[in-house]
Amino acid sequence: MAGTDGNRPRLVVGVSGSSAPQLAVTFLEIARELGTVETHLVMSAGARLSIERELRQDPSEVEKLADVVHDTRDLGAAVSSGSFVTLGMVVVPCSMRTLAAVATGNSDNLLARAADVTLKERRPLVLVARETPLNYIHIENMKRVTLAGGTILPPVLSFYHQPRTIEDLLRQTCGKILDQFHVANETFPRWTG
Ligand SMILES: Cc1cc2nc3c(=O)[nH]c(=O)nc-3n(C[C@H](O)[C@H](O)[C@H](O)COP(=O)(O)O)c2cc1C
Repeated sequence: MAGTDGNRPRLVVGVSGSSAPQLAVTFLEIARELGTVETHLVMSAGARLSIERELRQDPSEVEKLADVVHDTRDLGAAVSSGSFVTLGMVVVPCSMRTLAAVATGNSDNLLARAADVTLKERRPLVLVARETPLNYIHIENMKRVTLAGGTILPPVLSFYHQPRTIEDLLRQTCGKILDQFHVANETFPRWTG
């Protein structure tokens, strides 16, 4: 199977310092419930700050949800090499700084390096870019990543699935992310016409 050395396929999960770290928590919880992928978590320093400020949690609590945790300062970690086979990588949520780092190939931390590797190996890279409104630089960076083969998947609200709670909204975005990697999931009610 793609992205594996015989066990569950690996999915790299980057978390950067944007608002809504709840998205990362929900995504990791769903991946754990499904049990079909091995999550490799890389959190930026900015992500640690947003988790402390917005979730009022210690980042180590979020790390417990992942199968494997890599230190973003460790540029020699497994996910820094294309020879470490993965299904691809999601950055959820993705800050404009990390978007810019990916768009310019500035791999000065493991999160950006792993994203760069994902693009060079032509594996799916999904950036759950969270900022509003967007300036020209954000849009240009999104365009560059898209032209390089990445997917910009902003956590945009939708109501066709009749959400009742914030959790319903979070799960819809997480289901859309999993769909990008062809990971079977029934995370949210789908439109059937
Ligand atoms: C609580 C909090 C919320 C933030 N929300 C956002 C955001 O939604 N989008 C964004 O691009 N940056 C946001 N930032 C700013 C980034 O964290 C900052 O630019 C940081 O340098 C990002 O670094 P990183 O990409 O390495 O995590 C936020 C910062 C804090 C402290």
